[in-house]
Amino acid sequence: EQAHIGVTGLAVMGSNLARNFARHGHTVAVHNRTPARTRALVEEFGGEGHFMPAETAERFVASLERPRRLVMMVKAGAPTDAVIEEFAPLLEPGDMIVDGGNAHFEDTRRREAALRERGLHFVGTGISGGEEGALHGPSIMPGGSKESYEALGPLLEDISATVDGTPCCTHIGPDGAGHFVKMVHNGIEYADMQLIAESYDLLRRALGMAPGEIAEVFRTWNRGRLESYLIEITAEVLAHTDAATGKPFVDVVLDQAEQKGTGRWTVQTALDLGVPVSGIAEAVFARSLSGHAELRDAAQGLPGPSAKGLTGAAAERFADEVEQALYASKIVAYAQGVHQIQAGSQEYGWDIDPGAVARIWRGGCIIRARFLNRITEAYARERTPVTLLTADYFTEALGAAQDAWRRVVTTSAELGVPAPGFSAALAYYDALRSERLPAALVQGQRDFFGAHTYRRTDRDGSFHTLWGADRGERPA
Ligand code: 6PG
Repeated sequence: EQAHIGVTGLAVMGSNLARNFARHGHTVAVHNRTPARTRALVEEFGGEGHFMPAETAERFVASLERPRRLVMMVKAGAPTDAVIEEFAPLLEPGDMIVDGGNAHFEDTRRREAALRERGLHFVGTGISGGEEGALHGPSIMPGGSKESYEALGPLLEDISATVDGTPCCTHIGPDGAGHFVKMVHNGIEYADMQLIAESYDLLRRALGMAPGEIAEVFRTWNRGRLESYLIEITAEVLAHTDAATGKPFVDVVLDQAEQKGTGRWTVQTALDLGVPVSGIAEAVFARSLSGHAELRDAAQGLPGPSAKGLTGAAAERFADEVEQALYASKIVAYAQGVHQIQAGSQEYGWDIDPGAVARIWRGGCIIRARFLNRITEAYARERTPVTLLTADYFTEALGAAQDAWRRVVTTSAELGVPAPGFSAALAYYDALRSERLPAALVQGQRDFFGAHTYRRTDRDGSFHTLWGADRGERPA
């Protein structure tokens, strides 16, 4: 007997994926660099399905039916290259290596090209949903060739989450497209988390609410249009009490947010593509700012505003206004992420369908949310909106939220509570709406000091003004 699929790299994500395949009736070959882990998996979970443990790479490969489907779940970077080099020589043309880690899409493009030369398919695959998702149904974003998806798709769709009977897995596009989309997913994840964190901070500092009370607010929001995994777990975290001290858990956690790098990659890539992802960038910067203890210590004595909190009617309506600011800012973060996906798709010739991406993000992944249906709808229409913001549903939602959104940003400034995510999102919205931008002045400045030239609104061509002489204008 031969295995349908093999998983090498049996840390938690790899083990859980292997178990998920087995639970769906697939015979799964399992392998790990240290065989003790392979044995432990089969001992502990062997009853869940049919596993074929292999102690060596050779036996692992030999146990797979052809064309071979080999899933690797190892650390991104050098370990991934090492594992590819270990297995590629053992494989035959048409076989597939699936990299389910959080690889940088540029690495995936390089690996795909190199393995294609050797007749192998390399399928860089974004997998979201953490350990639980891997076991019970993640959202899966496979790149690589169409041909490889024909052989792999049915198995991946078997183990992915489903929403309304539709699997949260689709072929994203060639080579690095899957890992690119997973990267942007993580950028949106950072933005979403930051916006939720700002909401909490504002409720706490403007209204003096306790974490447990704020948890209740999030629970209420989670019954409405904001319903999402991140809002749900936020309520859980806020309601949790530290056993050692009896204090709210959030009050005993060191307030320095870490990152493994995918959000940073999103912003770095966006800068290269020239895509304004200001909401995601602010989320990455907010994490890095929080980690600069020396700056924060030095700034403790800086003066703040005299206003300390809200009272009266302003306080009464504030929680509802924050809900609206959160929803509007979240729409902006997704609009920016979708723009980046479209720009990446264009740059690399991937032909990614944003509606399909939103569809497979509805379940399984960290950013799963009710409102993703609306994004799918927006891109399913005949006419693809230039930006998500101008799709009917979102235009209406932003219009209804904007007054509250503005008040929340004003309040944050007045009270001295930082809300970089809310402010950046609102500035993006207003910048896009503005008929004229001060970019015209920036062009004038550039032309003044560097003769960098400018274009005119009323004539084609580039021009330069002789600033140091008679200020006459010359075509450039
Ligand atoms: C997911 C997550 C996951 C990622 C963590 C870590 O989709 O399941 O995005 O892939 O590892 O979220 O992110 P940071 O450590 O960078 O916060």
